[in-house]
Amino acid sequence: MSRQTRILVTGGAGYVGSHVCKALSREGFLPITCDNLFSGHRAAVNWGPLEVGDVTDKDRISEVIDKYRPQAVMHFAAHIVAGESVTSPSAYYNNNVGGTLCLLEAMRDSGVNRLVFSSTAAIYGVPQATPIPEHHPKGPINPYGASKLMIEQILEDFDAAYGFRSIALRYFNAAGADPDGDIGEGHDPETHAIPLAVETALGRRPHFEIFGTDYPTPDGTAIRDYTHVSDLAAAHVQALKRLLAGGESIALNLGTGRGHSVREVVEAVEQVSGRTLPVREGPRRPGDPPVLVADAGNARQALGWSPKFTGLVGIVESAWRWHARGTREELSPGLRAATPIMVAAASRAAMPRAPSAERAPEPAPRN
Ligand SMILES: NC(=O)c1ccc[n+]([C@@H]2O[C@H](COP(=O)([O-])OP(=O)(O)OC[C@H]3O[C@@H](n4cnc5c(N)ncnc54)[C@H](O)[C@@H]3O)[C@@H](O)[C@H]2O)c1
Repeated sequence: MSRQTRILVTGGAGYVGSHVCKALSREGFLPITCDNLFSGHRAAVNWGPLEVGDVTDKDRISEVIDKYRPQAVMHFAAHIVAGESVTSPSAYYNNNVGGTLCLLEAMRDSGVNRLVFSSTAAIYGVPQATPIPEHHPKGPINPYGASKLMIEQILEDFDAAYGFRSIALRYFNAAGADPDGDIGEGHDPETHAIPLAVETALGRRPHFEIFGTDYPTPDGTAIRDYTHVSDLAAAHVQALKRLLAGGESIALNLGTGRGHSVREVVEAVEQVSGRTLPVREGPRRPGDPPVLVADAGNARQALGWSPKFTGLVGIVESAWRWHARGTREELSPGLRAATPIMVAAASRAAMPRAPSAERAPEPAPRN
C-alpha cells in the first residue's frame, strides 16, 4: 500500500467530496473514498481507491478503516436536499445523524480521532443579520439543517469526552466545477441555481424559474454567497493540515463574503453562454431566507484561506465548461433518471444498501 498519508473521505464520489479528493491528491495525500453511490458517481473517483460502503453500516466502515488505517477522516456523506428533508425527516436523521454516529464510533474503536466535517449555513436558519458570523444564533428551519447542527453538537461532546478533534466547515453555496474540467456538479435532482441556469442555457431545460421576486433585496430576488468548489476544497486541505498538526476543534464559515442575487446569476449565465435565458418568475419557496452571506473572517485567520474565485462570472464559466461537455447522464454514467423530489425521497428511503459484491476494485491512485 502507498506510504502517502491516507485520508478516509466519506461521500468522496459526490460533488464537493470529489473536488476535495483531487485537492488532497495534489497535496500528496491519498484519499480513500467510501461512498454508497446513492447520489455520487463512480466516474468522479479518480485520485484513490473507492470502497463502496454506507456510513450507517458501522461494521463496513470499521472494515475500511482497518484496511487503510487513515490518519483522519473527511465526512461529506449525507442527504442534502433541504426541501426533501421536510417530507422525509426520518431518512435525513437516519442517514446524516445516524450515519455520522456510526462513523464516529467506528473511528473511536480504531483510534482515529481527527475529522473534517461538512456543515452548512442551514444551521443558522433565517439570519437576523448578514454577513453571518459563526456565533450567530442557530435556528435551522428544516430537518436537513437540524441534522447538521445535531452533528456539530455530537462533535463537541466527542471532543469533551474522548479528545476527538474536529473542524466543522459551514459552507454557504458551493458552486462551479474543477477548472481542469475533470469533475463537476451532478446532483439528481438538481436544486442549485447555477447548474439549473446553465442547463437551461444549454437547452436541456425549458426554462429557469426564479423562486421569489418580492424579497427585500435590491432586485427582489434572493441573495446567496456562491463559493467555488475548488476554493472549498482548498479550505478542507488547510483544515486537515491544522488538525494533523494538533489543532483544536473549531467551527468555521466558508464563503466569499459577497452575495449575488438570482437575477445576477441569470445575467452571468447569459454573459458566459451568449444566450438569452427563458426565465419564469414563481413564488418564494418556503424557508428560503432573503440573504445568506458568510462572514468568513475566522476561516481566513485560522486556515490562512482566501477564495481565489471571487467573481460570479468566473464561477459560472467553470460550471459552463463542465456542463457543456455533455449531458448529466453522459458526464456521470449510471446517473438515475431525474424524478420529482418527493418521489425520489420516497424511493430513496426504501433503497437497499449497496451489497458488498458491488465493491469496486482499487484503481491506481492518479495525480
Ligand atoms: N453543495 C452545497 O452547496 C453544500 C452546501 C452546504 C453543505 N453541503 C454539505 O456538503 C456535503 C457534500 O455535498 P454535495 O453537494 O457534494 O452532495 P453530493 O450528494 O454530491 O455528495 C454526497 C455524497 O455522499 C454519498 N452518501 C450519501 N449518503 C451516504 C451514506 N449513507 N454512506 C455513504 N455515502 C453516502 C453520496 O452518494 C454522495 O456521493 C454534504 O454533507 C452537504 O450537506 C453542501
